[in-house]
Amino acid sequence: MDRHMLLKWSDQEVWLKVPKLIDHGSVQTEDKAHSIQYLIYEYLGQSLYEYFEQLLNSTNAIQGKARMTEQLIQTMSQLHQLGFIHRDVKPDNFMVQDNEVYLIDFGCVTEFNLENFEKEKTWYPVGTPLTQSKFVMNGFYSCQGDDLISTLYSILFLQDPDSLSWVNDCINAKQLNIASLNKIRDQKEKLTANQKYCDESSKVIINQIKLLESLRVEDPDKFTKDINYNAIIEAVKLSYKIEQDAFDYNSRQSSLSIRSLDNLSLRLKQN
Ligand SMILES: Nc1ncnc2c1ncn2[C@@H]1O[C@H](COP(=O)(O)OP(=O)(O)O)[C@@H](O)[C@H]1O
Ligand SMILES: [Mg+2]
Repeated sequence: MDRHMLLKWSDQEVWLKVPKLIDHGSVQTEDKAHSIQYLIYEYLGQSLYEYFEQLLNSTNAIQGKARMTEQLIQTMSQLHQLGFIHRDVKPDNFMVQDNEVYLIDFGCVTEFNLENFEKEKTWYPVGTPLTQSKFVMNGFYSCQGDDLISTLYSILFLQDPDSLSWVNDCINAKQLNIASLNKIRDQKEKLTANQKYCDESSKVIINQIKLLESLRVEDPDKFTKDINYNAIIEAVKLSYKIEQDAFDYNSRQSSLSIRSLDNLSLRLKQN
């Protein structure tokens, strides 16, 4: 069964992977004082965390990670093509079924509004400090580029949480105060790809975040309606390929050295 949903909005038609809406309506509380709206979606079996764990334990983990990354970025591209911004992108808001990644939680979704983007106004930061862009934390209008930065942070959080120095602040604190939020924002400002123990793909993802950040200022169209999603996907896929080649090379080298050790011990025995 193809579970992609063909979504139409004004004159746009886009295939986007979201769970099927089964039913919706409203029910009244017993005292009839309130009515509660509900939405029932089809059930999706795996969280993104469980899926990622499964990929890590598979025979080709690097290829799996590359495919997941591509799906996450494509999902954003499709939502944005429809004219919407998600504004709460984080690993919890994706689910997986049959190796396909679905976007969920449309509670913060809004239509992109160019006038709002251009307005000098402070907006209430939507989303979550773990993956919010530094712009959203600073009260800028949340747009396509911010969704994409949050997607890239989500990928880093899954594959290389040590590359994000604010992870512990987010996990340990139940409620973040202004000082800790400012500290997280400063760490995002200072994030660089020059960290010693980062994977190649994490370095490239960090560079793509920095590139996007510079575009918001220098070329705003490329941070909003004209983001080059494919260039980002290609850059990240290439980094996974480099990681794969290095992994293959290292395993070849170690199997060669095991073989030469075997030969050596054989010769020693013969002598
Ligand atoms: N279609 C679905 N299938 C399975 N689990 C889901 C589905 N939609 C939501 N969930 C689970 O419920 C959690 C909360 O749902 P979500 O729509 O993100 O609402 P919110 O985060 O606003 O409470 C998700 O993180 C996910 O674990
Ligand atoms: Mg949610």
